Amino acid sequence: MDAVVLREGEQTPTVVEKPKPEPEPGEALVETLRVGVDGTDHEVINGLHGGFPDGEDHLVLGHEAVGVVVDPNGTDLTDGDVVVPTVRRTPGESNEFFERGEPDMAPSGQYWERGIEGAHGFMAEYFTSPADCLVTVPAAMADLGFLVEPVSITEKALELAYASRSAFDWNPESAMVLGNGSLGLLTLAMFEHTEGFDRTYCLGRRDRPDPTIDIIEELGATYVDSRQTAVADVPDTHEGMDVIYEATGYAKHAFETIRALEPNGVGALLGVPDSWEFEIDGGALHNEFVLHNKALVGSVNSRVEHFEAAVETLETLPEWLFDDLVTGVYGLGELDRAFDDDDTTIKTAVEFSTYEER
Ligand code: NAP
Ligand code: BGC
Ligand code: ZN
Repeated sequence: MDAVVLREGEQTPTVVEKPKPEPEPGEALVETLRVGVDGTDHEVINGLHGGFPDGEDHLVLGHEAVGVVVDPNGTDLTDGDVVVPTVRRTPGESNEFFERGEPDMAPSGQYWERGIEGAHGFMAEYFTSPADCLVTVPAAMADLGFLVEPVSITEKALELAYASRSAFDWNPESAMVLGNGSLGLLTLAMFEHTEGFDRTYCLGRRDRPDPTIDIIEELGATYVDSRQTAVADVPDTHEGMDVIYEATGYAKHAFETIRALEPNGVGALLGVPDSWEFEIDGGALHNEFVLHNKALVGSVNSRVEHFEAAVETLETLPEWLFDDLVTGVYGLGELDRAFDDDDTTIKTAVEFSTYEER
């Protein structure tokens, strides 16, 4: 079968021939429909994040997949089920986090991430997966099911953020997303359509005309240009924010977020930056946290419950958003376009098969 891999020493994905996988007991065989591409894939390709499976010279890419079960192999799944796989797997031996059903809370070294860290991903004509790591989605989601995984990331981050504000009567009205990449825009859509904030904002660093700014404004949010308004200065120009969701991977934003929050507000940090040393006024930030009851939570990955919530969320988002957000779905013959990283590309996916074709 064809698979999209990153070979050791290279920074361009390539199509190679690999054997079709055989499901082990407890696993199902899935025919892949589409696999999305996000900022993390670009970080993996550029050698900034993740790692190859032990003893292998290549990594099958892709962690945002949707496919169809073609061999349930004695599991509870049914031939023809449309499924989305979760990302984390046990690193050989299981551990307490996987046994509790909370692999997303496992620390580094206690998990593999398919397509990212230590385990091959889903960007191949077929993949196998333990059945309990496959979330069944409606057949109508066969085309857009590759968005379930990224939305699940925000379901988890918001759960953690809201939990930190659950000890008092908190009524958030304003929310800002830092970053106008695909994760940021999906989150902004959730802020508008499922979270119901009165005022929403999204930070970027682009000039108009720009397709992401068009989406931000079509969603009813205000675009903020970080070249004109630093995150720390947001309260001076737009008021402080009750919720801030960082999806830029720009390390200074983690600290600037503290100042940009309203008293009692919470920031969720999602970016995975490289090492970067810079000066901060630690005393002022410490004081700001304490005297204004602020919180910051880091959040990574997601588990089955978040995938299930993401399916419901996707059903509430408007059709036009998907048309504008998904700027291209490409077959293996146009792989380079799927991995384009220019300003006209927002969200892409690699297509292996279609639900109708099967
Ligand atoms: P992405 O497409 O690279 O999006 C990042 C966006 O942030 C880009 O649009 C970029 O703008 C913008 N940006 C970066 N620095 C900025 C600055 N200083 N001011 C304003 N805008 C800035 O990535 P993504 O897929 O949306 O993911 C976002 C981040 O979340 C990445 O760091 C990714 O690694 C991380 N992530 C984490 C998790 C998790 O589980 N924690 C899950 C998924 C993704 P330009 O395009 O104009 O440069
Ligand atoms: C993936 C997560 C993963 C994280 C860190 C994200 O892009 O969506 O599942 O945990 O990267 O590797
Ligand atoms: Zn991702």
